[in-house]
Amino acid sequence: MRQFKLFLIIFVSVVVLYSCSPADGNKTGHEYMPDMAHSIAYESNVYGNYYLNTWDSASVFLRKDLSGVRLPVKGTIPRGYAGYMNADASQFEEIHNTLRGGTHMNSIAVPVNSHVPYHYTDTEDERTRASQEIINNPFPITEKGLANGKALYDIQCGICHGEKGDGLGYLVSDANPNAKYPAAPANFLQDTFYNSTNGRYYHAIMYGKNVMGGYADKLNFEERWQVIHYIRSLQAKEKKLVYSASTNTFNPSYGVPEKQFKANLATRQTDIAPMPADSAKVQTPAPTESHSGGGSHDE
Ligand code: HEC
Repeated sequence: MRQFKLFLIIFVSVVVLYSCSPADGNKTGHEYMPDMAHSIAYESNVYGNYYLNTWDSASVFLRKDLSGVRLPVKGTIPRGYAGYMNADASQFEEIHNTLRGGTHMNSIAVPVNSHVPYHYTDTEDERTRASQEIINNPFPITEKGLANGKALYDIQCGICHGEKGDGLGYLVSDANPNAKYPAAPANFLQDTFYNSTNGRYYHAIMYGKNVMGGYADKLNFEERWQVIHYIRSLQAKEKKLVYSASTNTFNPSYGVPEKQFKANLATRQTDIAPMPADSAKVQTPAPTESHSGGGSHDE
């Protein structure tokens, strides 16, 4: 009997220990309470080996296909848009248009958290490259944008660059008894800045320059461009030209007035068809109507 007990204990221990054996070859092994030591990570853009099966002919994929980028699950809502979607279903169409670069005023998708990647680094070469490559202000000139641009400019930039853009902000002005700022802020009312592309301004906002720090964390994507519009309007004023929501006699490449933008939009054609799922949920225009017809949204 004692021998049998001993045998039983040894047998059970061997079985238990064996079942805890480490992973090896085709064996996953066992772990006592792994908790969260290993995450079950999914590669978002690649199908996992799970899909490499031969259960039936319909579920056999080639490795070539599996390494492609996955489409988002149907009905997926981009990050930052959930609030919109929940708040007001009538915005569905507008959001989809924005995301597809369709009829929305801006034709660009800006996440609500405004995290738009910037692919230039903080060097002088890259400053030059940004100045050469970033030309268009992606937002049309609107009254609202100029007003917001002014408010932001006065708070964030005017203290140094001056409320008129002349480089004589309070921090460096004679009116300030404690003016000790070590460098002269750029004066935007001179030829080099009149003639610089928007990229020079955008890059300066992203990284600053020498003693000027960057403002990427203070201004979101749209606000940066609103500030640039506002600086252009200050420059235009100095040159006795107009840079407003209705007219731009300063330089057409710096910004498109809202009025002109809407006129362009009305005649614009797009080959982007509405997603079939939309038509069920939203009253999209009948298929015969042009998808580009909705220029009524103003912002
Ligand atoms: C604390 C003071 C200060 C503030 C605030 C400030 N700047 Fe500057 N800025 C400077 C100084 C100083 C320079 C000159 C840097 C140099 O050339 O060494 C400069 C230069 C610039 C330039 C020229 C860069 C170039 O390519 O030569 C731009 C454009 C500019 N600032 C835009 C802005 C904008 C837009 C804001 C607000 C979002 C802003 N700055 C806020 C101090 C400031």
